[in-house]
Amino acid sequence: MADIRSNFVGIKSPNPFWLASAPPTDKAYNVIRAFQAGWGGVVWKTLGEEGPPVVNVNGPRYGAIYGADRRLLGLNNIELITDRELQTNLREIKQVKKDWPDRAIVVSLMVPCEEESWKAILPVVEETGADGIELNFGCPHGMSERGMGSAVGQVPEYVEMVVRWCKANTRMPVITKLTPNITDIRKPARAAHAGGTDAVSLINTINSITSVDLDNFAPQPTIDGKGTHGGYCGPAVKPIAMSMVSEIARDAETQGLPISGIGGITTWRDAAEFMALGAGNVQVCTAVMTYGFKIVQEMISGLSNWMDEKGHKNLDHIVGRAVPNVTDWQFLNLNYITKARIDQDLCIKCGRCYIACEDTSHQAIANTIDGQRGFEVIDAECVACNLCVDVCPVEGCITMEELQPGAVDERTGKVVEADYANWTTHPNNPMAKVAAE
Ligand SMILES: Cc1cc2nc3c(=O)[nH]c(=O)nc-3n(C[C@H](O)[C@H](O)[C@H](O)COP(=O)(O)O)c2cc1C
Repeated sequence: MADIRSNFVGIKSPNPFWLASAPPTDKAYNVIRAFQAGWGGVVWKTLGEEGPPVVNVNGPRYGAIYGADRRLLGLNNIELITDRELQTNLREIKQVKKDWPDRAIVVSLMVPCEEESWKAILPVVEETGADGIELNFGCPHGMSERGMGSAVGQVPEYVEMVVRWCKANTRMPVITKLTPNITDIRKPARAAHAGGTDAVSLINTINSITSVDLDNFAPQPTIDGKGTHGGYCGPAVKPIAMSMVSEIARDAETQGLPISGIGGITTWRDAAEFMALGAGNVQVCTAVMTYGFKIVQEMISGLSNWMDEKGHKNLDHIVGRAVPNVTDWQFLNLNYITKARIDQDLCIKCGRCYIACEDTSHQAIANTIDGQRGFEVIDAECVACNLCVDVCPVEGCITMEELQPGAVDERTGKVVEADYANWTTHPNNPMAKVAAE
């Protein structure tokens, strides 16, 4: 049986599935039920400093983007950090950690960008027995206007400075949560690394407006006629999050820096993909807000079964395994040729592949076969773009077939070369020439 126990920056948990800092982790009642369901750890909903209470809006706080079957694909929120009292949260964290010693409890924090504020909160969190802290430099709304959250995460110098303060004032492991609302994610990651962070976690939510009410011309969710940008998350953000995780994982300056992967994770497969791209563990929010705590059971059994099937003994066997295969465009092998193939037994003759190809730019699908309605690839025009596969409603009906060395590419008339391996230095590779000059 595969061993899915996790040790992330010294924080142990029975599995790599943690709940991200958000409403499902905002109180003992929730966290206890999450642990009962099987979650390996939680990042407690972000705490702020002691003082006037945080006040949330009382109109709608969420907006959504749906797929055609009304499955929730993206979620937008305008909530703030916890609006519960600091002392209440600390008391509950201490009790839950005492009752669930084998589970990870990390406390998310966001206080003003002054050393005194961090110095004040760190010892009281440490006193709860929590396993670590996560610095919330990510929330894009509400708190950023007050100089916190993404207002810090967008300035690498601030990130480094605050991480340094935390490392100097606590013995707890520090995880720095990054905002995706930045052009180059490597910059804040490098800054956090320079400040001595034990790990980074990403992504927090993406600035977004999900919809506009066209009767009153106000963004939704609408609060008394007005709306504001919120933070976007859920399955729709997974590709963006995975790209950012991989950029940090393969950056020479942050190589080896532990990463907690977050963003759209709903199934064990999503989690395994993040881990393959370098995440040591994963955190989940929207999927639990949508389907409930028990989805972790599918994640645990799915990951274990897949690892058993593939002979991966523990998480070290999968973490980062895809990183060497993430490369820059210029290193992609231009000698590698594929062509689309339509399985005539599976084809329902809807014609979507034909329309997409015809009206895009390649005109590489014929719409008649022997004078009858039917769809067939014209190899001499097919550039293997994959659009027909992407739009086909029947899974597995259209596939891409690799031309073997020696075959002639009918489009270019060139013989497919066997020499795939040395593409980086191949004379046909324009970037190799540039590098040589
Ligand atoms: C309603 C809501 C509240 C959130 N509150 C916090 C928060 O207090 N602190 C934080 O670091 N992230 C917060 N997040 C962001 C999540 O922790 C997570 O980074 C993000 O939702 C992406 O993961 P997902 O796609 O699994 O939802 C919140 C997200 C949602 C939807």
